[in-house]
Amino acid sequence: MIHKVKPVKDNTKNSMIPDLGRNVNTNGFMIPEVKDALKRFDVFFHECLPSDSSLLNKVLKYVFDRQGKRIRPVCVFLSAMASSKPLTDATFVGASAIEMIHTASIIHDDVVDRSDQRRGNKSVNAEWTSRIAVLTGDYLLAKALMLVTEYDMLDFMSIMSRPIVEMSEGEMIQTEKSIDLDIDENMYFEIIKKKTAALIGASMEVGAKSAKANDLSQLMHRIGENIGMAFQIKDDIFDYEKTNLLGKPTGNDVIERKITLPLIHSLKQVDEKKRTAIIRHVKNAAMEKKNVIIIRDFVMEHGGIEYAASVARDFVEQAISLISTLNDSPAKQALINFAHYVIQREN
Ligand code: IPE
Ligand code: IPE
Ligand code: MG
Ligand code: MG
Repeated sequence: MIHKVKPVKDNTKNSMIPDLGRNVNTNGFMIPEVKDALKRFDVFFHECLPSDSSLLNKVLKYVFDRQGKRIRPVCVFLSAMASSKPLTDATFVGASAIEMIHTASIIHDDVVDRSDQRRGNKSVNAEWTSRIAVLTGDYLLAKALMLVTEYDMLDFMSIMSRPIVEMSEGEMIQTEKSIDLDIDENMYFEIIKKKTAALIGASMEVGAKSAKANDLSQLMHRIGENIGMAFQIKDDIFDYEKTNLLGKPTGNDVIERKITLPLIHSLKQVDEKKRTAIIRHVKNAAMEKKNVIIIRDFVMEHGGIEYAASVARDFVEQAISLISTLNDSPAKQALINFAHYVIQREN
């Protein structure tokens, strides 16, 4: 069934707008146009979800009652708006499909990472089972592709299916690396480009295409990719925090033998003997939880967090230099603010 994308009603203008998750510093990208677009998005998105399975509907309700930050829909909107063209129904269909793909990826990711927490609550695999999480993720992926097909947006198909392939490859390469534990910076960048930046790049590309700004779609894609790289590096820094600000466990990357940028950099600062000792701690972290603290201290002592933060800043700067080539508009400034937000965010 095809749902109509409804216009924003005036009587919603003064109502409470759900912010981007908990305690978020919106940093100036939540301009009124983006808030309105998110409201319209929420209505459309929820109408698209129901299935014929009551269990699936129950799981979907559980997942979407715990709303995420919706940063990928925000990317779609900001890209469309910064193209200086009006948003279309395609903008909302595209944003909805992308958010479905993203949600599928985190539901699957929690199975892969054996994580029991997401968005401050139990993950789907913890609340139900891995089997139910895999099936729910599959449903959302298929639903996303069905949505763009139903709306006859075949040019969106390749933009959206590519990051799905890349996310699978990224997660698989990461799994390979968690077995041999031999990872350098370039390999890390390749993994995060595939698993995270590709979908954020696609979000920006879809935004431009949906506003019929085809000439800007590749530029927007590159802006999104740079923002996505910074976003994942920040996520990997969060995993070294002592306190759980994200509503998902910290220290889980090391437990799952994921060597991310703060540790890659720190390992480069020491001799072979120390490196071998730290790698051994990573190998045993699932059994010896105190190893997480040893590795965290090691990373703190060797400037791993500062280094990763500086690399994330470089990606943000690269994104901003690309954004600066766009025509001036409030959305362009909001996009710049958004690029800053991805590394300044507190969750
Ligand atoms: C989590 O993404 C997965 C990563 C790419 C790090 P988000 O942090 O955007 O997740 P939600 O949707 O806000 O929960
Ligand atoms: C991002 O990697 C996962 C996806 C792109 C699905 P992580 O494994 O670091 O994501 P979180 O920290 O669990 O959200
Ligand atoms: Mg994970
Ligand atoms: Mg993470």
